[in-house]
Amino acid sequence: MEFQEVVSRRRSIRRFKKEPIAKPLVEELLSCAIKAPSAGNVQPWFFMVITDPSFKEKLAAAALNQSWMAQAPVIIVVLADLDRAAAAYGERGVHLYALQDTAAAIQNLLLAAVDAGLGGCWVGAFSERQVAAILELPPSKRPVALVPLGYPAVEPRGAAGRRPLREVVSYDY
Ligand SMILES: Cc1cc2nc3c(=O)[nH]c(=O)nc-3n(C[C@H](O)[C@H](O)[C@H](O)COP(=O)(O)O)c2cc1C
Repeated sequence: MEFQEVVSRRRSIRRFKKEPIAKPLVEELLSCAIKAPSAGNVQPWFFMVITDPSFKEKLAAAALNQSWMAQAPVIIVVLADLDRAAAAYGERGVHLYALQDTAAAIQNLLLAAVDAGLGGCWVGAFSERQVAAILELPPSKRPVALVPLGYPAVEPRGAAGRRPLREVVSYDY
């Protein structure tokens, strides 16, 4: 797919076919995710690939009961490694770069999913405390997003509403 097409086709997908995602394909998506830029190339990310139904259900419950998430064949939990970020950049690393770096990786992941015929959704509404407990995360690993992925069972209708460029851009020429 052309880049513009991938970007335009990416929409949040919340209904999935049952079909599993082959592990090598998940690996391809993650290879794209880690090509994202990161401050000082510190790469303070970690990805947990969850397919176990009971874990998916627990994660969906921790995400304010967004039960549709559990129907995705895979949920990728994106973590920020705060120790790596702190070692390189202290407070700014922990509170800004680690989040920017992981966000860039998430976007790469979502675009790679579209290119592979998959769909997904960036889920940020969840209890960090509950997700940390479910996955037994150490305090240094902050869950930044849950990304359910699968083959889409729906085509999103209508254009994704966006504020017009004239409202969100200024030029100096
Ligand atoms: C930081 C962040 C958090 C989000 N959290 C959720 C969420 O918890 N649940 C959900 O269904 N969608 C979530 N979304 C998806 C947005 O609702 C979606 O991107 C937005 O409505 C635009 O639609 P589109 O992705 O189809 O273009 C989140 C997106 C971002 C970037």
